[in-house]
Amino acid sequence: MSYPFQIKSQEQYEKAYRESVEQPDEFWASVAENFQWRKKWDKVLEWNFKEPNIKWFQGGKLNITENCIDRHLKTMGEKPAFIWEPNNPEDRVRVVTYNRLHKRVCQVAQMLKNNGVKKGDRVCIYMGMVPELVYAILGCARIGAIHSVIFGGFSAQSIADRLEDAQAEYIITCDGAYRGGKDIPLKSVIDDALIGNKKVKKVIVYTRTRTPVSMIKGRDLWWEDEMDHAETQVEKDGVVSFPAEEMDAEDPLFILYTSGSTGKPKGVVHTCAGYMIWTTYTFVNVFQYQPGLIHFCTADIGWVTGHSYIVYGPLTAGATSVMFEGIPTYPDAGRFWDIVDKHKVNIIYTAPTALRSLMGFGLEPLKGKDLSSLKILGTVGEPINEEAWHWYDENIGKKKCPIVDTWWQTETGACLISNLAGVTPAKPSWATLPMPGVQPVLVDENGKEATEKDEHGFLKGNLCIKAPWPGIIRTTYGDHERCRKNYFATYENLYFTGDGALKDDKGNYRIIGRVDDVLNVSGHRIGTAEVENAIDTHAGVVESAVVGYPHDIKGQGIYAYVIYNGKHGDDEMTRKDILQTVTRVIGPIAKPDKIQFVSGLPKTRSGKIMRNLGDTTTLLDPAVVDDIKNNRL
Ligand code: WT7
Repeated sequence: MSYPFQIKSQEQYEKAYRESVEQPDEFWASVAENFQWRKKWDKVLEWNFKEPNIKWFQGGKLNITENCIDRHLKTMGEKPAFIWEPNNPEDRVRVVTYNRLHKRVCQVAQMLKNNGVKKGDRVCIYMGMVPELVYAILGCARIGAIHSVIFGGFSAQSIADRLEDAQAEYIITCDGAYRGGKDIPLKSVIDDALIGNKKVKKVIVYTRTRTPVSMIKGRDLWWEDEMDHAETQVEKDGVVSFPAEEMDAEDPLFILYTSGSTGKPKGVVHTCAGYMIWTTYTFVNVFQYQPGLIHFCTADIGWVTGHSYIVYGPLTAGATSVMFEGIPTYPDAGRFWDIVDKHKVNIIYTAPTALRSLMGFGLEPLKGKDLSSLKILGTVGEPINEEAWHWYDENIGKKKCPIVDTWWQTETGACLISNLAGVTPAKPSWATLPMPGVQPVLVDENGKEATEKDEHGFLKGNLCIKAPWPGIIRTTYGDHERCRKNYFATYENLYFTGDGALKDDKGNYRIIGRVDDVLNVSGHRIGTAEVENAIDTHAGVVESAVVGYPHDIKGQGIYAYVIYNGKHGDDEMTRKDILQTVTRVIGPIAKPDKIQFVSGLPKTRSGKIMRNLGDTTTLLDPAVVDDIKNNRL
C-alpha cells in the first residue's frame, strides 16, 4: 500500500496546510480519492456552525469495513492486521491476518443479522481487550449497525444510562476480562445494568475468563455457538463472504459517550466517510506510517484513542497493530518494554500518565530489554510535562526517535494538533502545529481573538477551531441541541474545545488543560458535576463540590469537599462508604483521591462553586474558605 497523501517534508506540510485552508474542497477530494467508494460523493463539504450542520462527501456511498479489510485482501491477506498480546505473558499470542479478520468480521455480521440486528440499530459493546472486540465493532460497521463501546471500568448504573440514552437493543459482552491480577466480571455488571431494562433483546457473551455467569433464556446467547452457526453460513467452498451494507457518507458509524460540564455524559456521534478519512489521514501523517511497521497503541478500545488508532486508522491504512489485553505494570513495570522487544514494535503511542507511573519504578524494568526497533514515540490524553517528555526521549527513544505530542478529543475523531514524526519539529510539552484542515484560534472570554500574553510572551486564550475538518463531531445522539449548546454556542461560528492554550510566535500550540468543569484524570475525562451527583446520592451527604488538584502520576486528582450530616461511623468509614457509592454510580475511575468534610461549600453569590480558592472576594461566605484551608488534607 502507498499513501499519496503522506507529507514528507516541512515544505510539503506548509503546502498541504495552505491548500487545505484555501481550497478545502479540492484538497479533501484528492485525499478521498485514495479510499474505496461504492459511489463517489457529489459535494465535498457543506457546513454551518450555527445549527450545526456539517456534511462531508455528501452523496458518497461506502462501507468502512471494505476500506479496513476487503481492499487489502488481494495484496496482503496473509499480513497480520493484529498481533494480540495476552494479559498473561506466558499465554499464547494470537496473530490475526487480514484474511482471518475478514472471515471473523463476516461471521459477526452474519451472527448479528441472524439475531435481528439491522442497519441503524444500536449495539452496545462491553468487552475486554480481546480480538473479538474488534470483530464485534467491525461486524456492526459491516451491517451498518451503530456501535457504542463502553469502557470496562464503568459501573452498571453508567451502562444503564448509556443503554437508555442510545435506546440500544443489543449487547455484546464477555463473561469477564483479565486486567493485571484481576478478573473483572463483565457479564454480571451487564446483568445489573439490565435490571428494569425493557429495550434490550439480545445479549451475546464471549467466553474469556470462564467466570460463572447467569444466562437468561431467550435473551442471553453464547458468542461461540452463534459464531459457529454463522461460519457455516458465510463460508462456502473455502470462500468467505458477507456483503457489506452500502452506507451514506454521513450515516452514523458509532456513538461514544464522554463527560462534559453537565451531570450527564454525551453520546458523541461520528459518521462513516469523514471519520474514516480523518483517522487514516492523521495516522499516516502524524506517525509517518510505512507499510511493514509495527504500531502499538496502548490505549483501551473503550476510549476514542483505541477506536481511531487501534481499529479504524491503522486498519484502513493496512497497518499491523499490537493489541494488548493487560496493563503496563503486570506482571511488572517492564511490560510495555517486553512487548516492544518481543514484537519488534516500531511505533509506540501511550499516555503521559502511563509514562509518569513507569518513571516511578526507575530504570531497572528497562534492563535487558531491546528497544532498538523503536522509531517513533507518541503521547496523547493530557499535557505531557517536560520531565516525562525527556524521560521518554532519553530512556525509551534513546534520543533517536521523534516524539509526537498529539492533541485531540473524542469529539474531534482524531488528532488536530501535533507535530509530524521527523517531518515537523517537536517542542517538549507543546503539541505544536495544526494538521492540514485544522484552523485553530485563541479567543478571550468574549470570543474576540486573544491578545493577552502570559509571563513568557506567549499568546493565551481559549482554544477554538474556525472550520470543520472531516472527523468533527456531527451531533450528540438523540439531542442535537445539546451538541450545539456544548460546542458551538459559547462563541459564535466557532467550535469550542473546552481547553485553554498558549501560542508562540512560530504558530506552535501548547495545551494547558480544561477551562470548563471537566477533569482529566490519568488521561480520562471526568465531569465534576457527575462526580458531585454520585457523591450526593450517598445517604447523609448534604452537598458536595469536586475540584481537580495537581497529582504527580494522574495529572489531576479528584478532591471532594463534602457536607455530611450522617452519624454513621467515623470519618474514615464514611469516606470509604462514599468511595463505594461513587464506584457504584460511575465506576472506580471516578473515585475521589481526597475527601474533606466541610461545614460549607465555597460558593459565589450566584451559587456557582469556586474551583480556584485564590480569589475569595466574590464568595458568599468567605469564612467557609478559612475553614476549608485550615482543614485541607
Ligand atoms: C481532552 C480530550 C484524545 C484522546 C484521549 C482523550 C486533553 C488530549 C492532549 C495533549 C494536552 C490533551 C485535552 C482534551 N488532551 N490530548 N496531547 N496535550 N492535552 O480524549 O477523553 O476526549 O479528552 O484531553 O484537555 O480536551 P478525551
